Amino acid sequence: MAIGEYKPGLEGVPATQSNISYVDGQVGLLEYRGIRIEDLCKHSNFLETSYLLIFGELPKATQLEEFEHDLTHRRRIKYRIRDMIKSFPDNAHPMDALQTSVAALGMFYPLGNFHDAEYIYQATVRLLAKVPTMVAAFHMMRQGNDPVMPRDDLDYASNFLYMLNEKVPDPLAARIFDVCLTLHAEHTVNASTFAALVTASTLTDPYAVMTSAIGTLAGPLHGGANEQVMMMLEEIGSVDNVTAYLERKIERKEKLMGFGHRIYKVKDPRAIVLQDLVHKMFDEFGHDPYYDIALELEKQAYEKLANKGIHPNVDFYSGLVYKKLGIPSNLFTTIFAIARVPGWLAHWKEQLSDNRLFRPTQVYTGLHDVTYKPINER
Ligand code: CMC
Repeated sequence: MAIGEYKPGLEGVPATQSNISYVDGQVGLLEYRGIRIEDLCKHSNFLETSYLLIFGELPKATQLEEFEHDLTHRRRIKYRIRDMIKSFPDNAHPMDALQTSVAALGMFYPLGNFHDAEYIYQATVRLLAKVPTMVAAFHMMRQGNDPVMPRDDLDYASNFLYMLNEKVPDPLAARIFDVCLTLHAEHTVNASTFAALVTASTLTDPYAVMTSAIGTLAGPLHGGANEQVMMMLEEIGSVDNVTAYLERKIERKEKLMGFGHRIYKVKDPRAIVLQDLVHKMFDEFGHDPYYDIALELEKQAYEKLANKGIHPNVDFYSGLVYKKLGIPSNLFTTIFAIARVPGWLAHWKEQLSDNRLFRPTQVYTGLHDVTYKPINER
């Protein structure tokens, strides 16, 4: 068989066939199951969108009711998982804590039959329900507090914010947070979804699939960028410092966090929705001066980098929304993970429906026929 051309980072190489989501990076279009993300953010909510992604169509009222009910009643985590989380170092990164917790969750639920729709459904509901609880539990326990028990009377977004702050959130804040989750729920074959697909293709259990994906999302070139953006804005410190900061970055050929995308060559449509949410947050809860820095950086970066197709991506404005919601910056990437669970699950399910083990080739650049040298001759 002829060896194909090597593409670093698999740029432009189709790794799968999928009908879950679609991106047109030239015009800034993102659709989930054919529905534009802007419409879902306006009319749907995170759980309905999760159902759409995982099961392929918008649920009927009874289906959504059952899905929400099943999810709401599976939010609690076993005390053994809680005890394990309690033993994590206080300064552990929350993404590491989440990855470990999800891996541990898998030990409690034996591998089932992938042809059994009920097994898929139960694993799906369990992961969607418990991931936010594990994130919030670690956050509480690293501060020396008991975890806050989930509340069945609160919706998904409100319950997470409640478990994080032990305070029922303002309904507008909860709605805005829910839109953030919807916006991050799925994004074709990005790095973490690809990791999930590769892991799923070995027919291992869904907790291992999620663990791979979470570990991959954590990196600063992927989901970890949202935390890095806040650090960058803090480092810039004031609007007056933007020009010098940008010039320094460009001179040193360093990346601006929250800018650039392999697929989008225009401003990421999710960044546009997020910026609108920033405005809504500020109108209601007060301005954040870091936004002025972000705006100035976007303006000046446009003049210098737009010709290369580098524009703000989803991670540029999300942190400003989360900060206003009272979420500490080292939890930002875990919010991305919570939101991306339905996307990963949808791809897991799709992979299982027509599975073939991922086993690509490589272009070997090493030596051949090398003589083994005894240790005293090296
Ligand atoms: N700031 C400055 N220059 C950039 C940036 C950036 N953020 N991103 C790309 N470039 C330049 C890069 O220096 C290179 O220039 P040249 O051709 O002159 O050497 C050119 O654009 C191509 O860069 P690349 O790294 O080969 O492009 P890529 O498609 O591999 O990178 C990326 C995509 C997201 C890894 C990259 O844009 C990046 O590192 N951005 C910063 C991190 C970030 O915000 N990540 C979140 C991505 S969106 C959410 C998600 O998927 O998690």
